[in-house]
Amino acid sequence: MPRFLSALAAASALLIAGCSADKHEDQAKQEQPSKPMVAPILTGADARDTFSYAQPEIARVTHVALDLAADFDAKRLGGTATLDIQAAPNASEIILDSKGLEIASVTDGRGRPLAFAVGQADAERGAPLTIQLDGATRIKIAYKSAPDAEALQWLTPAQTAGKQHPFLFSQGQPTLNRTWIPTQDSPGIRQTWEARITVPEPLKVVMSGENLAREGEPAGEGRRAFRFRMDKPVAPYLIALAAGDLAFQPLGPRSGVYAEPATIKAAAAELADTEKMIAAAETLYGPYRWGRYDMIVLPPAFPYGGMENPTLTFLTPTFIAGDKSLNGLVAHELAHSWSGNLVTNAVWADSWLNEGFTSYFENRIMEALYGPERAAQEAALSWAEIETVLKEKGRNAPVTRLHNPEAGTGGESGIVYDKGAAFLRTIEQIAGRERLDAWLRSYFDRHAFEPMTSARFLADLRENMIRGDKALEERLKLDEWVYQPGLPDNAVRPEPQGFAQVDAAVRAFASGGPASTVPYAGWTTAERLRFLNALPRQLPQPRLAELDRTLRLSQSGNSETLFAWLQLALANRYEPAVPVAERFLLNMGRRKFVAPLFETLLAQGEWGRPIAERIYAKARPTYHSVTSSAVDKALKGGA
Ligand code: BES
Ligand code: ZN
Repeated sequence: MPRFLSALAAASALLIAGCSADKHEDQAKQEQPSKPMVAPILTGADARDTFSYAQPEIARVTHVALDLAADFDAKRLGGTATLDIQAAPNASEIILDSKGLEIASVTDGRGRPLAFAVGQADAERGAPLTIQLDGATRIKIAYKSAPDAEALQWLTPAQTAGKQHPFLFSQGQPTLNRTWIPTQDSPGIRQTWEARITVPEPLKVVMSGENLAREGEPAGEGRRAFRFRMDKPVAPYLIALAAGDLAFQPLGPRSGVYAEPATIKAAAAELADTEKMIAAAETLYGPYRWGRYDMIVLPPAFPYGGMENPTLTFLTPTFIAGDKSLNGLVAHELAHSWSGNLVTNAVWADSWLNEGFTSYFENRIMEALYGPERAAQEAALSWAEIETVLKEKGRNAPVTRLHNPEAGTGGESGIVYDKGAAFLRTIEQIAGRERLDAWLRSYFDRHAFEPMTSARFLADLRENMIRGDKALEERLKLDEWVYQPGLPDNAVRPEPQGFAQVDAAVRAFASGGPASTVPYAGWTTAERLRFLNALPRQLPQPRLAELDRTLRLSQSGNSETLFAWLQLALANRYEPAVPVAERFLLNMGRRKFVAPLFETLLAQGEWGRPIAERIYAKARPTYHSVTSSAVDKALKGGA
């Protein structure tokens, strides 16, 4: 039985108890409603976060209060972070994570200075910030973030749609929030938080918690203050902020979208099905527990497709296709409101518990809204991702529960996301949908606001779904799915039926047939992607030109199909695609598109490297650190 570090709000002592999850549960849920909820911490080797310096069994953060001013000229957030702490009776110090922070002072709740030291930094984790507690249960840190803080991207007005005002956003997952918040930056150490952020007028601030002053309040010197609160304990990577010239459009009673005024209309249209998605998700796996579900469509420099920041999903504008064909992204980020934000991987090696569950859940939402055909096609594309990784890496492909150092990078998404989802789809097929759904729903309830590990997931599934059914246990091959590379032989492969017509078109074209007979215009986005990705990887220039001209590939307004086309075209040194790729790479910074396109160019040696270097010289200053560090690595020959 895994051991809990049970943090009792009433006592300042920390108990390391060998109690069961259920027992602990009672303690957490019996707390006074007026007292902030304190989430448990898992102990045990598989829950030890090697990407954090924190030693929560000695002292842990329970609450963070930020009071920060954004300085767009200096590219710094500066002010104070006040932390509430629970420490073991004999604890003399607390260790926080910090990266590049300039610490001015540390005091206790009454303003008495506390001794502190910033230790040796490493490139991955940053530096430990060790503070002598001297009995304090509240500490106040005065600090500034560095201008190159990796979580933050400070956009110039030219990098926004409106071109008039600067913009700022943060991206915390997995280990970047320590570049602007001095706290224990570990997903297993959940914290409630509040914040007051000031910005120059007329900018607005939004955060991943309840918005307490939507229009802001005067803060002197032409500035306004915005206040926020998150009263449920969350993993600290989920604290997020954005500031800029923001408009808001309601989508339903509890949902809406923020974006720059120039983008708000298109964003709202693309997100028109959000309320239906929330309703479908609740029908599947229980109530949405976070109050509002708003989204912000960020400027195109946002390095991910989406980020599931509680109450406020962050989205790339590249999902706007004009026809909602890429809104699976929204289903995905919404699904994280259960898998990821309610029940959270305790360590990054268990990312599949967040992303694999969420990819499965995403597909169930898509099925509920748009029917089994679209869902099956999207599941088949996901399956193809697993096959690609396994073909490339074979037995060297990552295991579902990652080993370090894969866990630091998120590993291969084909494993963490797609094999993870295929695992749940396999359980669904073998145990039956009803049985899996009943278990999933109860799992989210039983473990709401708690960290999770693979071992605890397995124990819970055995205890609450398999319940001693030996035949079922044997058929599921659970341990093989979690701890072995490759695909177990019980893996349920999605019906390839859905793509029969597409695959026939691929064969016809590959054997010399004309592009004009490809019924591309009538296809769904998934079918188009299947087609582009299944075409022979080597094609002569005239055939590429014919495809491009006939299917109007370079003119695509759909970022996913444009990307798939450019991957094929550049791998074949197709010159007319270069200006198209250049425009794409200069106009958005989504790592999933940017890094592979540069890698494809670099793989084309004397033809592609000069093109890559020329474009990157212009593009790099516009990218978030997440994207530029991936491309830097590729250019150095890392990828
Ligand atoms: N939580 C992830 C983004 C993430 C993962 C950030 C790991 C940092 C480290 C988010 O939910 C996600 O998976 N986004 C995907 C979209 C999704 C539809 C697969 C993306 O950004 O492409
Ligand atoms: Zn995700």
